[in-house]
Amino acid sequence: MGRVKLSGLLVFIFFLTSGSPIWAKPSSCEDCHLKVTPGIVKDFHRSKMSETLTCASCHGREHQSANDVDKAKLPSIETCQRCHPKQAKQYMSGKHFLGWIALKAMPTTHLQPEAFIKGRKGCGGCHSLGATAEAKRQPDYPKYAMDCQNCHTRHAFSKAEAQEPEACMTCHMGFDHPQWEMWSSSKHGVIYRLDRLMGRAIDERRGPRCQTCHMPDGDHRVMTAWGFLGLRLPEKDKEWLSWRLTILKAFRVLDPQGKPTDRLEVIKAGKVARLTEEEWQAEREKMVRTCQRCHNSAFVKEQLHQADMMLREADRLFAQAIEIVASLRKEGIIKSEDNNPYPDLLRFYETPYKIEQLLYMMFMDYRMKTFQGAFHMNPDYTTWYGYAKMKKTLVEIKELAQKMRHQAQEKI
Ligand code: HEC
Ligand code: HEC
Ligand code: HEC
Ligand code: HEC
Ligand code: HEC
Ligand code: HEC
Ligand code: HEC
Ligand code: HEC
Repeated sequence: MGRVKLSGLLVFIFFLTSGSPIWAKPSSCEDCHLKVTPGIVKDFHRSKMSETLTCASCHGREHQSANDVDKAKLPSIETCQRCHPKQAKQYMSGKHFLGWIALKAMPTTHLQPEAFIKGRKGCGGCHSLGATAEAKRQPDYPKYAMDCQNCHTRHAFSKAEAQEPEACMTCHMGFDHPQWEMWSSSKHGVIYRLDRLMGRAIDERRGPRCQTCHMPDGDHRVMTAWGFLGLRLPEKDKEWLSWRLTILKAFRVLDPQGKPTDRLEVIKAGKVARLTEEEWQAEREKMVRTCQRCHNSAFVKEQLHQADMMLREADRLFAQAIEIVASLRKEGIIKSEDNNPYPDLLRFYETPYKIEQLLYMMFMDYRMKTFQGAFHMNPDYTTWYGYAKMKKTLVEIKELAQKMRHQAQEKI
């Protein structure tokens, strides 16, 4: 066993030596870390940065031994910004940078056990973002954060890795944002992946990948017109506006009379909704230009318009369901902690009532899939995981409301 390990180490050292000028003059950090964390040293030597940087370039020199580990600096966005100001500036003007702020803005977040927020395995597993030096000084900020190293994983920090759609997969998948599943089984995704299988170079692949549409020309600012919640505040379509107002009351962004609440400020800070027509339009036009690299403008406008109309249909059903639950609260059949007849949907699943759980599924699961599927050209998600389930759930909510009223009357 010992011999095998030793020869493995020799091969490993040989591997590092070849073509690596740093190794010719090993840094004290690497000397010791080759024993402590050999994987990290090896990964770092895959990075282009190992040609000019050392461990200390990002972690400082203050920590020098096992006894002063707490002196090692963990990088913030500014660490990378020093040498990559363009990418950092773009990144900080986009949505990823606001991931932690948007998370903290949700009332549900404060109801979750700490391990689910700070660790890398609950909400914090995807939302530990926006780690500037200042943010990291706040006591409730996670010690280990993600930002640049999300897509350029440490310590290889590779551009090629970040260009593949799998770089987005760990976060943009699953229950409420299955963009990975939707894209990878759409025509776009299938064509992209087939070209890759056939060994075509990245710019020779016909289908668009996540980065083609969301990081055009390598722009690190990610932001869409509708966003996660599918909300914009100004609305010219009168009917749609009336449903939107109901939804906003259930997000408690508006009070029952339709006046803005304090929560609007929080929504603004996290850019959770587009607040002006121009803001929405600018993002949409950027996307249209991207589609037009491969499709004609009439085709693109038609496709995106249909997707908007699918969201409109989803909102029609969703608003109906919300008003049914609100009427039960008004009648006192559902006991509310405050006098607000609208449920608080931004508490997500934190409600003891089955009917409100159904409403939560309509919001986070089925409505999301309807419109996200539409924008990612996936007819199965839009129809069977989305719209069909909204219809089914609305029937269940109606039936349950009737039962609850019945039971309430029997008690009297
Ligand atoms: C004599 C050995 C030694 C030297 C020299 C050394 N380290 Fe370390 N380092 C350690 C040990 C031991 C740990 C803790 C490992 C553990 O807990 O598993 C550590 C941990 C770290 C951590 C993680 C800190 C954290 O809070 O998670 C970083 C980053 C780090 N070292 C960077 C460096 C850099 C940069 C240098 C050179 C300036 C350096 N190390 C030099 C032994 C060393
Ligand atoms: C280009 C900047 C950069 C360089 C150079 C760099 N690191 Fe890191 N390192 C990072 C980032 C980013 C993280 C992740 C920080 C976080 O999770 O908050 C990290 C985390 C770490 C950790 C703690 C996390 C873990 O997985 O254990 C250790 C240990 C570490 N680095 C050691 C090293 C060593 C040893 C070297 C040199 C071989 C090195 N680093 C070079 C940026 C760098
Ligand atoms: C001291 C300056 C410096 C710092 C700090 C720094 N970089 Fe770099 N980075 C470089 C240099 C130099 C290159 C190589 C440029 C080249 O050869 O094209 C590079 C290249 C890169 C590349 C492209 C790699 C490739 O495969 O083409 C990425 C990605 C990258 N850095 C990410 C980061 C991240 C993330 C951080 C912070 C954790 C960081 N850098 C911190 C100097 C730095
Ligand atoms: C698997 C990774 C992952 C986990 C776990 C996760 N999220 Fe998210 N979250 C995302 C992604 C990705 C988005 C953006 C999705 C989109 O726009 O479609 C997002 C969006 C959000 C938004 C909307 C932000 C906005 O500005 O529009 C909020 C709020 C949010 N998440 C809260 C939470 C809470 C609370 C939890 C834990 C109960 C959680 N998330 C768990 C990945 C995750
Ligand atoms: C959401 C994924 C993602 C995140 C997060 C991300 N990058 Fe990138 N990065 C990419 C992609 C994709 C490319 C390739 C862009 C292109 O096609 O030119 C890239 C390219 C780069 C390059 C190489 C530029 C060049 O053309 O040589 C650098 C340097 C870089 N990123 C630094 C950063 C820094 C610094 C951060 C954090 C502020 C960061 N990245 C965060 C995805 C990301
Ligand atoms: C570490 C997890 C993670 C990775 C990896 C990741 N994202 Fe995200 N992404 C998020 C979270 C969390 C949000 C929501 C941020 C917020 O609330 O401000 C988000 C938001 C977005 C948005 C904005 C949606 C809106 O509200 O307008 C886009 C677009 C996006 N991501 C695209 C990508 C792409 C493309 C990649 C891969 C190149 C990627 N993301 C990689 C976690 C991630
Ligand atoms: C063909 C272009 C295209 C590709 C490829 C693409 N998207 Fe999108 N994406 C869109 C459009 C269009 C929207 C909606 C934009 C709007 O609101 O106007 C969108 C919206 C989003 C959003 C916001 C919420 C939503 O789903 O509506 C996120 C997050 C996102 N995309 C992530 C991804 C990820 C991750 C991938 C790869 C797995 C990906 N996208 C692939 C075009 C694309
Ligand atoms: C990099 C080139 C490229 C970009 C950018 C692109 N597409 Fe496509 N798209 C294709 C290719 C190639 C096909 C497959 C052609 C076919 O189905 O015959 C396709 C097919 C489609 C289809 C038909 C899907 C099906 O199931 O048959 C729709 C709808 C579509 N694209 C809409 C869009 C929209 C909307 C955008 C922008 C958000 C966009 N595309 C961006 C290359 C692209």
